[in-house]
Amino acid sequence: MTEPWDEAEIERPRLGRAAPVRVRVPAKINLHLQVGDLRPDGYHELATVYHAVSLFDEVTARPGDTLTLTMEGEGAGSLSLDESNLVLRAARLLAVHTGRPAHARIHLRKHIPIAGGLAGGSADAAAALVACDALWQTGLSRSELAELAAGLGSDVPFSLVGGTALGTGRGEVLTPVLARGRFHWVVAIADGGLSTPAVYAECDRLRDGIPVPEPRVADALMAALRTGDADALGAALHNDLQDAACSLRPPLRETLQTGAQAGALGSLVSGSGPSVVFLARSPEHAIDIAVALSATGTCRSVRRAHGPVAGARVVGDG
Ligand code: C5P
Repeated sequence: MTEPWDEAEIERPRLGRAAPVRVRVPAKINLHLQVGDLRPDGYHELATVYHAVSLFDEVTARPGDTLTLTMEGEGAGSLSLDESNLVLRAARLLAVHTGRPAHARIHLRKHIPIAGGLAGGSADAAAALVACDALWQTGLSRSELAELAAGLGSDVPFSLVGGTALGTGRGEVLTPVLARGRFHWVVAIADGGLSTPAVYAECDRLRDGIPVPEPRVADALMAALRTGDADALGAALHNDLQDAACSLRPPLRETLQTGAQAGALGSLVSGSGPSVVFLARSPEHAIDIAVALSATGTCRSVRRAHGPVAGARVVGDG
């Protein structure tokens, strides 16, 4: 299947033989996340709108005699660097798929919080695919990379493409969404992460016995994106996992309230949380909201970001 962002978007800068490859990849937020029934494979059917924002991780792949991973930044020391790490799993998957030896020295510079609902792990997996693809000059098409990405996690295909996209299936089936202009966000980062399976399980528990409608994205949200109307977008933000995340982490309700009192156009827990995002009217308004959130101390840190931004891209040679 050829996707609209397929070949045209493949960026393979002319790198010297065995030159290091540096890839930048954004965090994502979900502007809309509707969770359907639990499927027999353990995943939930979704209708979600992904939006890539300007918080970035960087993955650099250098030639090596074996496959190694080092990291610095957010969560260094707490994130396991063994074969369970999504970066190494991505590199190995690509090597097996293309019949190449999995030889690379990979370094991860992390800014996206771990287990924050911002798809940090998925972003790193997507970046590793793009970096090793360029390092090993595999010649794979973007849609082949997207297929490998889907095998690594539901959000990984979106981290490859970025922008704003509708996700269906378990989130891995993407359709681009027309979004006009730039939106300004404030991201409140909580102390510690939340386990995605635990949040989905809590969502199932909270709505046990209640009929679950077929997931679909509200027309109002699509219209707001099409016209670039930040007020309408703020009113249309929605996340079915929000109650579950707040149930597991009650202080999130206070964070949500603080941003609303600071005049955010809309607010919601991002993905499975615990990061909370607020939509601002302008970059200046985003500063006001960030200051209000910092002052209350309801979160570990506050970042400002804009979206949409591009997905995993080669940005340099080392
Ligand atoms: O696909 P990924 O590995 O990121 O998913 C992590 C977990 O989140 C899954 O094992 C599942 O428990 C839950 N999940 C889900 N439905 C989805 C996506 C994720 O239940 N559509």
